This record gives sequence, C-alpha cells and structure tokens, in this order.
Amino acid sequence: MEYPPITKPPIDQFAVRPNLGEYDAARQSITWEQIRSELDGHPGGGLNIAYECLDRHLKTDRRNKVAMIWEAGDHDPETYTFEQFTKEANKVANGLRSLGVEKGDRVFMFLSRIPECYFTAFGVLKLGAVIGPLFPAFGPDAVKDRLEDSGARVLVTSPELWSKVKEIRGDLPDLQKIVLITRRKEAEPGEADEVLWDDVIANQSDEFETVNTDPEDYAVMHYTSGTTGKPKGAAHVHNAIIGHYATGKHILDLHDDDIYWCTADPGWVTGTSYGMFAPWSNGATSLIYEGGFGANAWYGMIAKHKVTVWYTAPTAIRMLMKAGDEVAKKHDLSSLRYTMSVGEPLNPEAVVWGEKAIGLPFHDNWWQTETGAIMIANYASMEIRPGSMGRPFPGIEAAIIDDEGNEVPAGEEGDLALKPGWPSMFRTYWHKKERYDSCFRDGWYITGDRARMDGDGYFWFVGRADDVINTAGHLVGPFEVESALIEHPAVAEAGVIGKPDAVAMEVVKAFVALKDGYEETEELRRELKRFAIDKLGKAVAPREIEFLPGMPKTRSGKIMRRLLKARELGLPEGDTSTLED
Ligand code: PRX
Repeated sequence: MEYPPITKPPIDQFAVRPNLGEYDAARQSITWEQIRSELDGHPGGGLNIAYECLDRHLKTDRRNKVAMIWEAGDHDPETYTFEQFTKEANKVANGLRSLGVEKGDRVFMFLSRIPECYFTAFGVLKLGAVIGPLFPAFGPDAVKDRLEDSGARVLVTSPELWSKVKEIRGDLPDLQKIVLITRRKEAEPGEADEVLWDDVIANQSDEFETVNTDPEDYAVMHYTSGTTGKPKGAAHVHNAIIGHYATGKHILDLHDDDIYWCTADPGWVTGTSYGMFAPWSNGATSLIYEGGFGANAWYGMIAKHKVTVWYTAPTAIRMLMKAGDEVAKKHDLSSLRYTMSVGEPLNPEAVVWGEKAIGLPFHDNWWQTETGAIMIANYASMEIRPGSMGRPFPGIEAAIIDDEGNEVPAGEEGDLALKPGWPSMFRTYWHKKERYDSCFRDGWYITGDRARMDGDGYFWFVGRADDVINTAGHLVGPFEVESALIEHPAVAEAGVIGKPDAVAMEVVKAFVALKDGYEETEELRRELKRFAIDKLGKAVAPREIEFLPGMPKTRSGKIMRRLLKARELGLPEGDTSTLED
C-alpha cells in the first residue's frame, strides 16, 4: 500500500522549533567550518570529544544542569549534572592513568547501561585513549575476537559480566588489567590483574585536565560485521564530534530544554554517537534507561521524565505496535514533540502508526557504524515520505551509482554511495587497511546498501548488497556464527542466513550438516543452539537451526548462502552455474 506524504506533524511547536528551517535553504548555508566554529575546541588547539561534551559546559550556565538521568527501573533515578558527570569522568581518567593507560591505548567496556559505563567512556576520551564498547549480550567468543583484534589494554566490566566470559583471559596477552565495577554485585579481586573500581577509580582526584588530542587522533572503535571474516574494528577520531554535534542540533533538533531519550545500547554505534556524543555536545539532558524493552515500561519512562525527543528503532516500534494502541493511551505521552527511528528499514505502516497511537509520526534516518553520524534523514522541517530514509544532511553528497561509479537515473536501483570527507567518517578498519580501501570505488565510499533515489532526492532502502544479517537493528556476520558452530564436534559444515521476520526484520538461521556418525535429533539441535549462545551470546547466536545433508557450494568450495536463502524463501535460485556438481 502507498502512503501519502506527511506534510506537517500535528503539533504546533514542530513548525516553529526546528533549528534547520527549510531543508533546501539549509543545504546552501550550513558548512562544516561553520559548525566547527560553534564548538569550543581544546584550549591547547586540538579537539577532544569529552571536552566538547563536558568541560566546555562547565564555563556556562549548563554547569548545574542535569546531563544524565539514570533509570534502572528498580529504584529511584540518579541524576548527574554536567559538573558532577565531569568529576566522575575525571576520576576515571586519573584512575586509568594510575594503571598505566596512555594516549592511544584501547580501553574496552563490557558493561550494562549503568552510570559508570558513561563515566568510563568520557574518562577514557579525556585521557586521549580509545574506547571500545561491547554489547553486554555478547558471549565469550564475541568478546574475545574484539579484545584480541584491538589489542585492548584494559577492560572495564562488572563481576557478573566478567564471569560470563572469563575463560577467554588466557587468549588475551595484550590485556593487562580488568577493572570490576561492583555496583550490582560484590566481588573480591581474584587474579592479580583484576582490580576493583572502588580501589582504583573511586578514590581518585576529581580534577583532570583533558588531554589536548589532535582532531585526527583515534577516539572510538566499534566492531561491525561483514560477509566474510571476523568483525572489523571501525576506528573513529575526535573530529567526529563535529558531525555528532551538527546532526544532534539539526536532525535530532535538540534544544536546551529538551529531555532526550535514545534507546540504543552503547555496545552499538547509535548508543555512543546518539546516546552520548550528540546530546551532550548540545548540552541536552539525556535519559539512560538500563532496563530492557517493555511497552508499559517504555511509555512509563516517557511519561515520568517528560521526554520531548525520542530516538528509537524499527524493531522496538513494531513491538510497541504489537502491544496495541491501548497501552500507549494509558500513559501521558504529551511531552513528546519529536520522534525518530534508525537502524533497519522502517515500514511505512510504522510511521503512520506513530501518528495514530502517540500523536507523532516517526522520522526515519539512515547511517552506519562507518559513517559515524546520520547521513540521510527525514528532518523535522521536511515532509515525511513514509517508507523513505529521507534526504542527505547538508554537507553530505549521497548518490545511487552503478558498477562503473556512474550515477543512475532517479528511480533506478544501485549502490548507495557517499562522497568521502565528512568529519565523522571512520578512518580505517583496525589492522585491515586493505579491507578499508576496498570500500571505495571511483571516488565514492560504497556503503554496502542497495537503494533508490526518487526525483525529489529522497532515498529509499532496497536491501543489503552483501550477506550481512540485520536482526533487530544489530548487524551479524554469517561467518562469525558459522565459525562458532563448526567448533562443535558434531558439525561438519554450517551456512548462515538472515530469515525474514515480521518484528525483528531478520532472524539468524543456521543450516548445519553433521559429521558421519551423528544423528539429526531434536536433542542435538537444542544442544547446538545452546552451544552457539554460550559462545556468541544471545545477540548473535542463531534463533533457528536446520539440518541438511550437505551445503550447496561453489566449485571452489564456498558455501552458497544466497542459494540457502533462496531455497528457504522458495524463491528462484538464480545463477547456479558455479554450483558444485
Ligand atoms: O543496512 C543499513 C541498515 O543498518 C546498516 C548499518 O548498521 P550499523 O553499522 O550497525 O549502524 C547502525 C547505526 C544506524 C545500514 O548499512 N540501516 C540503518 N538505518 C537504516 C537501515 N536500513 C534501512 N533504513 C534505515 N533507516
């Protein structure tokens, strides 16, 4: 079904409040230089993300303004002003320095969304070191791959999460210290390399002079999955704050009196770029909710904290739709003035449902780990085209190109490509320069997404160009899952695909061929599922496993996932000329 454009959302503030004004006029007038001049810059001449998000506000009225409201759901919220937040981050910086952490070192975080997670991120950035956030639902293999590849020197975690993955310790020679936060669970430091937060951070001075980092110094690493190989560490630099600040102001439309809620976990890039950097560089008050999804709990958070700007994801919106409009109507959601979505295709029904159930349509936008910040958006000031990702941010040149790098006519499908050079663009894949270089063609950065552009410059998502699976907005690389499965003694081969799902968009499905002597039993299927969860964690492990006598392979021995998927969906098998006899 086709949905008509939504011209003006039905709330007066909308028409008058956006910073951006008319989109087309803005395209002419906004430049990166101008945006950069709105930030302070480090007094030493450099640029540091933590300085722009914290230190600079201490020179203004924002000093005593609440930066973070932390809600765990099981007790009263905790609030931290910009000054209190800065002091906590300063203690982290001092503590890590006392452990020998230096500029450029990687400090990884394997934490739930507790305040210390955020203090750690900014303490590390203040020190000029590099943060590596890990999703708390990862299992030991997923954590090990990332710590090993990055050569992380310190891991900040909690006793409960550390005990889940501790078996990997011996495989990580670069890891020198594990800092345990005992907010939820008491712990004694076990091994010599385990130290307690209370011993090394909590007693430190709350004064720290943020390191004068160069705009091109590394700041953040996020691991992201590809079709082949293990996840790659997309490395971002301090200069990215220009993009976070700009998009926070002009796309999230953040103002001083906003209470903003980004539902993403910092283990994924949305949770850092838009859970931390965009709101705090704009001086907004940000709600951090540690709890998981629940329609009542989520609406309750909006009502309780009078959230005005809400950034969430399609799977969550579809789950809210499933919970029913009545649940929404039970809560006072009148504080909301602007709602957005990212991470997966947002179906037009969901955009329109937002208008009906909560009084606001969802503004979809598009970006990736590699782009560091939003690239394409349905701005507050623009007509929304339900089902479209919107139009490029001023300063971003996006196009649909063919294999030769030529732009294709409006309406035709091709590779979604961006002209390199925006501030928040990733600078490399850690240790994988060749892989990074292969992302570029004829002067374009090739995103790996297929899309179309209409005659008015709106972009419409078609699908991924590769085998990467997008489940509930989280990218999963099939190779990572296949590698884990074949470690089980019964498994000869494994092929992994994304199976369409009405709520999560895709779920991970594995096809498994067993070694001789093993039987395809229900019990073994359950064992394999458990095996994968134990290794990879629930976020990555397959939801479904199906036994096959063998995998379809090319003559060179590569498993043809494309064919597995076509067969699963009952679609034509396409070109099978390279199929093994
Ligand atoms: O395939 C696109 C999809 O998610 C990918 C990026 O995922 P990740 O690197 O984990 O970054 C998450 C931060 C947004 C994209 O290549 N994607 C993202 N946004 C949309 C989307 N697909 C369709 N519509 C979107 N709005």
